[in-house]
Amino acid sequence: MSNLTEQPPAIRLEKRPDGVGILWFDTPESPVNILSSRFFGDFAAALDGFEADPSLRAGVLASAKPDSFIAGADLKQFVGLDAAQGTALVTEGHRLLDRVAASRKPIVAAIHGVALGGGLEVALACHYRVASEDPKTQLALPEVQLGVLPGAGGTQRLPALIGLAAALPAILTGSRFKARKALKLGLVDHLTSPRGIVDVAARAALQLAEGTLRRKPRKPTPLDRLAATGPGRSFILGQARKDVLRKTRGLYPAPLRILDCIEAGQARGFRAGATAEQQGFGALVGDSKGKALIKLFLAMTDVKKAGEHLPPPRRVSRLGILGAGFMGEGIAAVSMSQNTVVLKDLTPASLGKAAKNLDAGLAKREKSGSLTRLERDRQWSNLVFSTDTQDLAGCELVIEAVFEKLELKRQILADAEAVLHPQAVFASNTSALPIGRIAEGAKHPERVLGMHYFSPVPKMPLLEIIVTDQTADWALSTALAYGVKQGKTCIVVKDGPGFYTTRILAPFVGEAMLLLEEGADIEALDKALKDFGFPVGPIALLDEVGIDVGAHIARDLGAAFAERGWKTSPAAAKLVDAGYCGRKNAKGFYIYPPEKKGKSGKKQVNPEVYGFFGGPARKSFPAAEMVDRLALLMVNEAVRCLEEGILGSARDGDLGAILGLGFPPFTGGPFRYVDLVGAADVVARMERLKTTCGDRFTPCAMLVEMAREGKRFHED
Ligand code: 3HC
Repeated sequence: MSNLTEQPPAIRLEKRPDGVGILWFDTPESPVNILSSRFFGDFAAALDGFEADPSLRAGVLASAKPDSFIAGADLKQFVGLDAAQGTALVTEGHRLLDRVAASRKPIVAAIHGVALGGGLEVALACHYRVASEDPKTQLALPEVQLGVLPGAGGTQRLPALIGLAAALPAILTGSRFKARKALKLGLVDHLTSPRGIVDVAARAALQLAEGTLRRKPRKPTPLDRLAATGPGRSFILGQARKDVLRKTRGLYPAPLRILDCIEAGQARGFRAGATAEQQGFGALVGDSKGKALIKLFLAMTDVKKAGEHLPPPRRVSRLGILGAGFMGEGIAAVSMSQNTVVLKDLTPASLGKAAKNLDAGLAKREKSGSLTRLERDRQWSNLVFSTDTQDLAGCELVIEAVFEKLELKRQILADAEAVLHPQAVFASNTSALPIGRIAEGAKHPERVLGMHYFSPVPKMPLLEIIVTDQTADWALSTALAYGVKQGKTCIVVKDGPGFYTTRILAPFVGEAMLLLEEGADIEALDKALKDFGFPVGPIALLDEVGIDVGAHIARDLGAAFAERGWKTSPAAAKLVDAGYCGRKNAKGFYIYPPEKKGKSGKKQVNPEVYGFFGGPARKSFPAAEMVDRLALLMVNEAVRCLEEGILGSARDGDLGAILGLGFPPFTGGPFRYVDLVGAADVVARMERLKTTCGDRFTPCAMLVEMAREGKRFHED
């Protein structure tokens, strides 16, 4: 007998004497419940037992896993599906959930922990939903982020439950709702504590069976009333489609397919919508963009285990942050839920500003329902604001986030070492200064490493951890574990000029400068890269990062790699000399109109900057040429980082480029991009550019070898 058949069923029916059948979900050999063909089979068998037993008057769906309801469909299974298999899989799910929805005995979902994707769709098919008021309880349809659509009835049942206007943003963004917000939306009907949730759900189920409890209909909002009319519905859906096209530039098929399904259901009824959903799911799961996004998620999960082979991490009960500027404040914001955070700066004024912003952030989260008052107070009380280095004593991890000046960072490290325990980790949040140089002269270079956060810290998912030859494994392990606690996807890279992300960004932005020198138009250049899938164009990005920062990096990396033809435009340095630093001093490539009601108006090119690039007359370059010049340089540099051992794997390179720099996610990252189009194609395009633009387009040895041998970076 195979292992599979020996496994216990994923669903067990418990028959209670009060007449309630509890269907306990418990996917074998998995820490969370996951929907799969096997799960559907077990579910159908459990439903048979439930329906056939006359002693059972009502049912409850509950999870036997701690702190997790159902994490959705099995994403690992999705990787191998073609369109027809995808449609067949979800059609099976539909049949099953239609059975739940049509059951004559009421079925209540008892949701504690995550109910994501197919997990929420199971709950949506039930007749009533009870959720635990617990931070671990989160509900969402995140499929759009994975390049697919809710394929188990979600595009039909969510609008029916919470109204079209509320359902659209939920499905089109995949945002997660905590229990209280879910109650407010009408997504769940009742909140209770995690302990005893099954009993509460069982009681509700019996009351539903007896007719003593009915779901309270939601109070219609003005938008609901608009959506109830044909023209109103068309208007709302039309606006949503416009919004999607504006945000995605039509590059992501999933949100458009989702709108098709919702539209079909609204116009022609549930059955038509469900059929559109089954077909749409298959098309998306079989498509390369969907596959790339699913693999991206799996890589993000996989990388969480990067510390498994390392010594156990030190527990961090007190984190020190040096520098209360924008970065330091951001690092505090993602850490204060975990432990005491000492935020140290030179002046009370800087600390006061950070304190005000952190307090405002907590207040906003409380207002949105994602934090309770108690939790807000707890997090606030974790913060210690200090101007005294002595307050760092007792910190197991210290992260410095001061100005990018080598001498300053060395001094800060020396000051910290005077008070820190020898096994406290010291991390530098630098984007390019070599960690080895910062650690020169340290008493304990083995505890020094880099933790490169991206701005704004609370929003950006990546943390690049940089190790030198001297960094101890225990120090790395502590930084990694802490980064994961902060909710970051961590990649570990070796020390070197620009590490990984800054190193591959530098030639990308540098090439944009060279194109401007050759006469390219700023807006046309930014548009070309956005049309390729970057969230912002290279010039707008430079304005955000700071032209001064860019010029500094270009100078340092340009010098380090000059021998292989890196070319740096002198214009950036000249712009800095003339006071152009980018958005932060309102003197950049673009002019930004003042914000109105928190929204910024359309930015316009600052015509003065063309004075630094040969004057206002501009030339037209084919978009594909501009994209190739920038993107292929980035791809080639990424492969070089793997070749030189800066990167440990192609997986990390893909994650770093997508999550840190916005490399188009649907390509899967620079390495998966090479796999997709073929190394031979990339090499041929680079060779062509080399003849017209110069040696910086020389494809690296690893790429050439892969092209010659027809190899790929990823097996799957
Ligand atoms: N499919 C396959 N495996 C999954 C999974 C899923 N949907 N969700 C979690 N897992 C696995 C992870 O791969 C990991 O496995 P491993 O231990 O073998 O590496 C294990 O569960 C634990 O996951 P994490 O390490 O991520 O644990 P966390 O506690 O940090 O997070 C989680 C748990 C919040 C559930 C997170 O894993 C998550 O967000 N999962 C994905 C949820 C999701 O996107 N669901 C929608 C799927 S699409 C869908 O349902 C389509 C439907 O409409 C038809």
